[in-house]
Amino acid sequence: MSATDTLFQITSEVSVCTRCTLHKTRNKSVPGVGPENAEIMLIGEGPGYNENEQGLPFVGQAGQFLTELLAQAGLKREDVWIGNVVKCRPPNNRDPLPEELSACDAFLERQIATINPKIIITLGRFSMGKFMPGAKISIVHGQMRKIGSRFVIAMFHPAAALHQPNIKPAILADFAKLPQLLDVARKEIAKSAPVVAPAQVAEQKPAYDPTPKTDEKPTQLKLF
Ligand code: URA
Repeated sequence: MSATDTLFQITSEVSVCTRCTLHKTRNKSVPGVGPENAEIMLIGEGPGYNENEQGLPFVGQAGQFLTELLAQAGLKREDVWIGNVVKCRPPNNRDPLPEELSACDAFLERQIATINPKIIITLGRFSMGKFMPGAKISIVHGQMRKIGSRFVIAMFHPAAALHQPNIKPAILADFAKLPQLLDVARKEIAKSAPVVAPAQVAEQKPAYDPTPKTDEKPTQLKLF
């Protein structure tokens, strides 16, 4: 199956998913959007009111702010994949429950395996917790770690910055240094990429993603 077909298949499954109780109150599920070969995946928490209405991630106030932050870092929304750790809106925007996070995790894992991004940017503590269990967002925000073959950058959630004025300068500063972090990640990835003759490229494309699952303990953990 092509990556496009696989992502479409995941979207269809998410739209009829009943793995947790969030399906009972959803209007539209929000599977995530972006190119099937995106270099960067941004992963937030869960849909809010507007996302639940439209079926699209980060389309409310926090989304507008995210678009501005990305633009400041030289990134266009349409060039990155944007999604969430839970695909259906938690009632009244409450925090997702552990059972909701684990029910939805297989969808996100399949999306990551299909897109195979070089860089994952987590938005908020729930998304950060998937990749850096036990880390504190107040400490690791703005930092990049190598986890398996990918780089993961932890950012504050844009909504937190809108609601807590003391976080706004930090998120602005973190996104301001994003181009530098992306540059480091791209250079590191280019260094570790195997050199293959053009004729070998098609043969060497793996039939499945051999990247370690993101919940595996990072074997090589670097802080930049
Ligand atoms: N907040 C999130 O975490 N995700 C969205 O899609 C919108 C707001």
